[in-house]
Amino acid sequence: MDVSSALATAQVVKGAFLVLTALALTTYKWPENKNAEDLPVCDYTIVGAGTAGSIIANRLSEDPGVNVCVIEAGGDPPFESEIPSLFPYLPKTNIDWNFTSEDDGFSAQYRRNKYIDLPTGKVLGGSSTIHHFYHVRGDPNDYDDWANASGDDSWSWQNLLPYFIKSENLEDEYILNSETGKYHGTNGYLRLTRENRDLPLKYLKAFKEMGHKIVEDVNAGETLGFTRPLFSISGGVRQSSASSYLTPIKDRQNLYIVKNTMVTKIIFDGNKQATGVQCITSDGNAITINTQKEVIISAGAFNTPKLLMLSGIGPRHHLNNLGIEVLSDLPVGENLQDHMAVILIHKLEATTETPPAADPTKFPLPTFIGLGAVNKSQSYPDYMTLNLISRNYPAALMQLCSSVFALHDDVCSQMYAAGVDREVLFTVMNVGRPISRGHVELRSANPEDPPIIYTGFLSANADIIKNIDSIIDYIRITESDYFRNVGGETMYFDLPNCRNLSSSTRAYWRCYILNMMDTTFHYSSTCPMGSVLDSSLRVKGVSKLRVADASAMPNIVSSNINAAVVVLAEKAADLIKYSQPCA
Ligand SMILES: Cc1cc2nc3c(=O)[nH]c(=O)nc-3n(C[C@H](O)[C@H](O)[C@H](O)COP(=O)(O)OP(=O)(O)OC[C@H]3O[C@@H](n4cnc5c(N)ncnc54)[C@H](O)[C@@H]3O)c2cc1C
Ligand SMILES: *[C@@H]1O[C@H](CO)[C@@H](O)[C@H](O)[C@H]1NC(C)=O
Ligand SMILES: *[C@@H]1O[C@H](CO)[C@@H](O)[C@H](O)[C@H]1NC(C)=O
Ligand SMILES: *[C@@H]1O[C@H](CO)[C@@H](O)[C@H](O)[C@H]1NC(C)=O
Ligand SMILES: *[C@@H]1O[C@H](CO)[C@@H](O)[C@H](O)[C@H]1NC(C)=O
Repeated sequence: MDVSSALATAQVVKGAFLVLTALALTTYKWPENKNAEDLPVCDYTIVGAGTAGSIIANRLSEDPGVNVCVIEAGGDPPFESEIPSLFPYLPKTNIDWNFTSEDDGFSAQYRRNKYIDLPTGKVLGGSSTIHHFYHVRGDPNDYDDWANASGDDSWSWQNLLPYFIKSENLEDEYILNSETGKYHGTNGYLRLTRENRDLPLKYLKAFKEMGHKIVEDVNAGETLGFTRPLFSISGGVRQSSASSYLTPIKDRQNLYIVKNTMVTKIIFDGNKQATGVQCITSDGNAITINTQKEVIISAGAFNTPKLLMLSGIGPRHHLNNLGIEVLSDLPVGENLQDHMAVILIHKLEATTETPPAADPTKFPLPTFIGLGAVNKSQSYPDYMTLNLISRNYPAALMQLCSSVFALHDDVCSQMYAAGVDREVLFTVMNVGRPISRGHVELRSANPEDPPIIYTGFLSANADIIKNIDSIIDYIRITESDYFRNVGGETMYFDLPNCRNLSSSTRAYWRCYILNMMDTTFHYSSTCPMGSVLDSSLRVKGVSKLRVADASAMPNIVSSNINAAVVVLAEKAADLIKYSQPCA
C-alpha cells in the first residue's frame, strides 16, 4: 500500500459517510436548533457549543430562571463521529475548521506540506467530537502554576480536585474500588472507561524493568508512570461534551442552541460593557443577539483570540494595522502552547497472525500511555507518550502516519514496510511543558478569514534538548528482556536530511525530531488568566465578558488537555453563577 492509495481510500470512506449523514441517524440525540431571529432575551450568551461551551450551557441552565443562549458555528455531530474506531476519518471534513500553521522556515520542513494541519472541531461538542479519547488530568504542578499565574489559589490542583470528581462518571470498577477510587466521581456527566486489552501488559512489564513506575491510575495526584489509560468512551460510543452534557438536558426550556451560526463580533456599549454579539446565520443573515447578564466566549484556542481581536481586544499595534478600534490593549494570541509530537517506531516480534477484525466500538489499537521523567528521582514528568500496538497491521500504521498525522510519504512507506508480518509499537512522544511559544493573529478584519497561526515549535533550543533527552530515556526499552528476546529495535528511518549523521548520536536525534514531528492537537493558552483574563476568567479592561475554554489556561498541562478543559469549564460555571456580577 502506498500513501496516495491510502489517502484515496480515506476519501472514498468519507464520501460514504456523507451519504449516511442524509439519514440523520443520530439527530434524536441532539438539542433541536433554535432560530437566531426567535430568541428570547438572553441572560447569558455562550459563543461555541464545544467542549467547554456545552458544559457551561448545561450548568448555567440548571437555573430555570435564566435564559441561556448558545451560538455554534457547526451543526450536529455526524454518525461516524460517534464510533470510536473512525476518528481518523474526521479531520478535513465539514466538521473541521481546517486550520493550518504557517511555514516558519524551520519546523515541519520535511513533510508533505511545510506546515502542520491543526484540526479543530466545528460541530456540537467542538474538538471533543473529533478528539482521540485519552482522558488524562495532568500533573498537580501544572495546576499549581495556574494558581500562581492567576494569583488565585482556587485554581490549584487541590482546589480543582472537587471539580474533576464532579465532572466524572467513571465506569471502571477496578479503579473505583482501589486506593485511588476517592479521586474519582460516579455522579458526573462525563462517562469514562479504561483500556482493558491485555496486549499492553508485556510492555508495561518491560518499562518497569527499565526503572519506570507502572501504575493503575495516573489521575490521582501521582502522575508519573506507565499505564493503560482512561477513555471518554462508554457503551462503545464517543462521549463528547455534546453527548455527555447536552443530550441529557436537550429538552430544557430555558436552553436555546442556535446551530450553523458564526459569531463575528462582540458588541459593547459606551461603558465597554458587552451587551451581545453579532452573527451570521446559516442563511447568510447578519443579526444581533442581545444579552442581559454576560457574554462567555468558548470558541477554542484559535477562534477565541480571533473573535476578541475582531472585537477590539488584542495587541494595540496589530489591531491598528488592520484598522480595528482598540477597546482593550491585551496580549491576546501571544502565548500559544501545544504539545509537539515526535513519532517513534519500535519493531518487535515477527508475526503472521491476522489482525483481529476491527471492533468499531473500541479505540482502534491496544494502547498504553507513559508519563516519564528523565531524572528518576524527580516526582513530576518530563514527557508523555501515547503508545499504540500494531500486530501485523501495517494498514493501521499507514493510517496513523498519513491521515492522523501527516508525515512525509517516504516515512509512511517505510513505516508500512516495517509493519508487515511484525508487531510494531507506534509512539507519540511529547515534552510535557515546552518552553516554546507560538502565536495567533488576524489575517484580516474579515471574520470569514482563518487566523494566522505560528506553532512556534522548537523555537526554544531547550525544547530540542528536552526532546532528545526524553527519546534517549524512552528507547532504553530496547535493553529490556522482552525487547531483547524478540529482537526489538528502535527504527532509524532513512531521512534524507539526516543521512550524514550517525544514528543514536544527539545530532541525529535533533535532526530526527525536526523531520518526524507533528502536533498532538493540544492548542491552548492564547488568552490566559494572568495577562488577558483575571482569575475569574473576566477579560481585562472591559466588563460582562469572560473567556472559558483551552485558551484561558495560563500554561498547558503535562498530558492531553481535554480533562483540563472540562475542569476549567465546570469551575467557570460556578464562577459565573456564584461570584458577584462582573459589572
Ligand atoms: C484531532 C484531535 C485529537 C485530540 N485528542 C485528544 C485526546 O485524545 N485527549 C485529550 O485530552 N485531548 C485531545 N484533544 C484536545 C481536546 O479535544 C481539545 O483541547 C478540547 O476539545 C478543546 O476544547 P475547547 O472548548 O477549548 O474548544 P472546542 O472544543 O474546539 O470548542 C470550540 C467551539 O466553538 C465553536 N466556534 C468557534 N468559533 C465560533 C464562532 N465565531 N461562532 C460560533 N461558534 C464558534 C466551534 O465550532 C467549536 O464547536 C484532541 C484535539 C484534536 C483536534
Ligand atoms: C474543510 O474541508 C472539507 C474537505 O475539503 C470541506 O468539506 C469543509 O467544508 C471544510 N471546512 C470548512 C470550515 O471550510
Ligand atoms: C509564582 O511563583 C514565583 C516563583 O516561582 C513567585 O516568585 C511568585 O511570587 C508566585 N506568584 C504568585 C502569585 O504566587
Ligand atoms: C534529579 O532530581 C532530584 C530530585 O528533584 C534533584 O535533587 C537532582 O538534582 C536532580 N538531578 C539532576 C541531574 O538534575
Ligand atoms: C548534514 O547535512 C545537512 C543537510 O545536508 C547539513 O545541514 C548539516 O550541516 C550536515 N551535518 C553535518 C554534521 O555535517
